[in-house]
Amino acid sequence: MSELHSFAPGRVELLGNHTDYNAGVVLSAAIQMGIHARGSRRDDGKIVLSSEGIEGCATADLAAGLKPGGAWADYPLGTVEMLRQAGAPVGGFEARFAAELPPGAGLSSSAALEVATAVLVTKLFPFAVSPLDLAKICRRAENEFVGVSCGLLDQVSSIFGRRDHVVFLDCREESVEPVPFPPSLGLLIVHSGVKHALTGGEYNERRDQCFEAAKRMGVPALRDVSSAQVAAAGLPALVGRRAAHITGENERVFAALTALRNGDGDTFGRLMTASHRSSMENFENSTPELDSLVEIAIRQDGCHGARLTGGGFGGAIVALVDLEAEGRISGAITSEYLEKTGNLAKVYPCRASDGALAA
Ligand code: GLA
Repeated sequence: MSELHSFAPGRVELLGNHTDYNAGVVLSAAIQMGIHARGSRRDDGKIVLSSEGIEGCATADLAAGLKPGGAWADYPLGTVEMLRQAGAPVGGFEARFAAELPPGAGLSSSAALEVATAVLVTKLFPFAVSPLDLAKICRRAENEFVGVSCGLLDQVSSIFGRRDHVVFLDCREESVEPVPFPPSLGLLIVHSGVKHALTGGEYNERRDQCFEAAKRMGVPALRDVSSAQVAAAGLPALVGRRAAHITGENERVFAALTALRNGDGDTFGRLMTASHRSSMENFENSTPELDSLVEIAIRQDGCHGARLTGGGFGGAIVALVDLEAEGRISGAITSEYLEKTGNLAKVYPCRASDGALAA
């Protein structure tokens, strides 16, 4: 059999921070950078994985069972394992990955690796599965094999992204809807230069605090309450702030949907900046570097708003800008950030792009 190829994009989370595992709503977009996988079948039952820029190969034997080894290959191996558990007839194969995504930027290189694997493997070993179920299989790889309790946002964005559209994901309804993105606007992703790693304990700690808030309020998930209800609930201060972030984010996502449908970039941007403030004050998942970047970005003419994107605790911000001002704003952010913090920011102008299964 000849070599087959797949491509899975990274994603940028636009609004709805940490809402996915609280049965909430999120707006995101797939971006043009992602991970390529090329591979072919082998008839010895072995899986041989390699990645550009990483020395050596990771090898696993299907007959011996797949186990996590604590390295990058856990993402593809976990995906294979979850595909097999879902009934996919996976045999031996080799695959080479090439990543265009900066690791540690919070642009979901992990999900892109899982999705690129899942799409390649289901091409090599045909298996009928819906796009949403494929996203869930990839998420299970991360939850159960790698051991990160992430929600469904990253995998859904990488699979369902659509060019010039944002992805509206409702995690309670398990529904996904593309919403047109105003053509005069652009997204600048700015990596703070400070690495983000979800395998740290903070993500799971935030998750537990959200679950505790829901439990104390007697509801299955924070999706079931409003910010007003959280404020009136008399929760312990810390848990109350975490819950206020989630309900505020859900409310901002619904407001942003209306703004998007009206082509209103100003309102969308203001909601993004409000989201960042809530990350700083309520969820405490920002860093001084991300705060500086947001502060610098929103001072620029033609920038409608900015916020941290993804899990937080390092990584990148996303700024909503007028396309015609993109170059000027990129330059200003890099030079002011360097002057203020001594760190070199890296700017990636991004376009809402097609997901891995786009026709
Ligand atoms: C990470 C996780 C997602 C989501 C975001 C925060 O990207 O992988 O599932 O929880 O953080 O919104």
